Amino acid sequence: LGCFLLAGSEVYQIATPPAANLDESKVPSYEEPKLDLTNKKDWKTTQRPAILQLFAKNVYGRVPEQKIPVTYETTATDRNALGGIAIKKEVTLHFLPGDTAASLHMMLYLPKNAKARASVPVFVGYSFTPNAVTDTSAQWPLKEIVKRGYGVAVAWYWDIEPDRANGWQTGIRTRLADKLKIQPREWSALSAWAWGLSRMADYLKTEEKVNPLQLIVIGHSRLGKAALWAGANDQRFTMVVSNESGEGGAALGKRDYGETIAIINDKFPWWFSPNYKQYGSNPAAMPTDQYMLLSLIAPRPLYVASAIGDQWSDPKGEFLSAGLADPVYHLFNKKGLETASMPALEHPVGETIRYHIRTGKHDLTRYDWQQYMDFADRQFKAKK
Ligand code: GCU
Repeated sequence: LGCFLLAGSEVYQIATPPAANLDESKVPSYEEPKLDLTNKKDWKTTQRPAILQLFAKNVYGRVPEQKIPVTYETTATDRNALGGIAIKKEVTLHFLPGDTAASLHMMLYLPKNAKARASVPVFVGYSFTPNAVTDTSAQWPLKEIVKRGYGVAVAWYWDIEPDRANGWQTGIRTRLADKLKIQPREWSALSAWAWGLSRMADYLKTEEKVNPLQLIVIGHSRLGKAALWAGANDQRFTMVVSNESGEGGAALGKRDYGETIAIINDKFPWWFSPNYKQYGSNPAAMPTDQYMLLSLIAPRPLYVASAIGDQWSDPKGEFLSAGLADPVYHLFNKKGLETASMPALEHPVGETIRYHIRTGKHDLTRYDWQQYMDFADRQFKAKK
């Protein structure tokens, strides 16, 4: 009937999940929780904090608010990076004195030709690969990004917590349990990764060439889930980009298409809070759905992107979710996605909530980056 997965001393009970539905005509009807919106003030002071709490309780676990001293060590500076167009800094964020493993190794690329006193918008995110590989990764077209006047701050997410069932035992959830006053099972790998993104933001606030009001948090797939959760918790991220984040990210969880809550909790239990497991067999009982997470980004610019070859992430569920966040943007007199019909391939739509679906498979591509930079150009133009 069910199986137990042992992850270190952590025990998760999970019902064996039914296979994914990939047939649109077989999507059962579902109902989304309604937001009873009144005004901006009520949203900010009452509804928003309550929804954030629901996600912490039911989906991701908490992101600790406890502040800890972090020291920054610049281990290398290259004033002629990326063929001479960038300054590259390698900075280690030390979270625990005397524990070299409790640290994050960040690479920061800044355009060299930025005017003497100008500061630049920066994309902040994790890579799937260690730094030496990310440097030349197709998912991080660094030269192109820097040429367009953006900085990039990127780190390998395994520095925070290795992405496996027992990763929490060697990651910060264990190492910082005392300092952060939180037990490992009160949060999750996704919350830990979100926490790490906020620590990158802390550092970036100390860099004079970085515009502190133009920090764009970005992530692909599981790292897109982390980027959304970081953006929901930390409003210093003034723009949020979800690239094919799918289930537990931008896609509606109550819509039975592609990966499901049951499947994701079966395969990746450590990503989410233990509480999330109960909704695998009963998504209807869930008090949240992912469009509410997207709503927490309002009124900040939000980009949700899908790929036609990535049905596992449920492109339509991502599109619908983005549109359902519109009403909260309207409270702030912003236009959101403003359309109910999915756009054609490579035809981005929307104003403060932007969406595209492109040709090709599950990946973070040059095309995706170009759209994110076009969007950011427009959003930040007045302030650039
Ligand atoms: C798996 C998982 C997805 C996740 C993806 C990724 O496919 O089921 O939820 O987004 O990995 O991170 O690439």
